[in-house]
Amino acid sequence: MAPAISTIRTVTGMRRRVAQWRNEERKIALVPTMGALHPGHLSLIAKAREKAERVIVSIFVNPTQFGEGEDFDAYPRDEKGDLAKLTEAGVDVAYIPDARQMFAPGFATRVHVKGLTERLCGASRPGHFDGVSTIVTKLLLQCAPDLAIFGEKDYQQLLTIKRMVADLDIPVEILGAPIEREEDGLARSSRNAYLNKRQRELAPLLQRTLQDMAYDLAEGRPVEDATAASAFRLESAGFKVDYLEVVDPETLQPVDGVLSKPARTLVAAYLGKTRLIDNLGVKPKQRNRKRAS
Ligand code: PAJ
Repeated sequence: MAPAISTIRTVTGMRRRVAQWRNEERKIALVPTMGALHPGHLSLIAKAREKAERVIVSIFVNPTQFGEGEDFDAYPRDEKGDLAKLTEAGVDVAYIPDARQMFAPGFATRVHVKGLTERLCGASRPGHFDGVSTIVTKLLLQCAPDLAIFGEKDYQQLLTIKRMVADLDIPVEILGAPIEREEDGLARSSRNAYLNKRQRELAPLLQRTLQDMAYDLAEGRPVEDATAASAFRLESAGFKVDYLEVVDPETLQPVDGVLSKPARTLVAAYLGKTRLIDNLGVKPKQRNRKRAS
């Protein structure tokens, strides 16, 4: 059996453990999560174990990144199950601070990343990325890891954190990890648990639509056309599309016309009350260019 994982619940406890590892010159990785761990999270942990000698997984359901009327109260919580998975995965420390550790009385600071956070999920979830940026800054300062790993599942979040770390000179390397999917293509998410049977059967259409759209875009179908057809397909099947956009993979600004360079398609859509997100890299097909003679 794997050795029992050590659980740390205070900032001072976490700092003490990291100081000890630093004395031993260990390379440290952090994987921030909100718990309800699934194979998507475990793939980030596997990558962390490859890259570092000590792995911290934080679990904190961050109230400040949930908007009013969102699912903070309903968000799945399963500390016991999570600890078993983390032990099995060979994680060194589960860092589980409570809200009092994170937000002392009088707490008044917000980290805001301009530009990248205004559109897409930022437009539908006002304040969400400020909540994420603030808590991730705190986790990075508390755990002082050499590297931290985030999933491409939350593509806008990954870019936002990279920008923030660069802008604030936080001494950590941010690594992205590919989207982990169910066998039928649905991106793994703690929120998939909210789907009823009919919605769960419908959900993989999100990924299939992105795949078909990537094919069409590669074939030279203009972005506006491909986007409208795909949104119509999703809506006809019963999704309510929040956004579906083809964007520059670095700036997240919309691209239009026929693709001339790699881009990323990002989608958010509701099935009932459940908001699902997904994304996929797209690129124009390499055409055989005639060499100038
Ligand atoms: P959470 O949704 O728990 O996700 C934790 C990490 O797991 C994120 O980096 C997310 O992108 C990644 N992840 C989730 N599903 C994935 C999948 N199917 N494949 C690959 N990676 C996946 O994202 C958050 O928590 C929070 O915003 C957090 C960063 C912890 C700040 O509170």
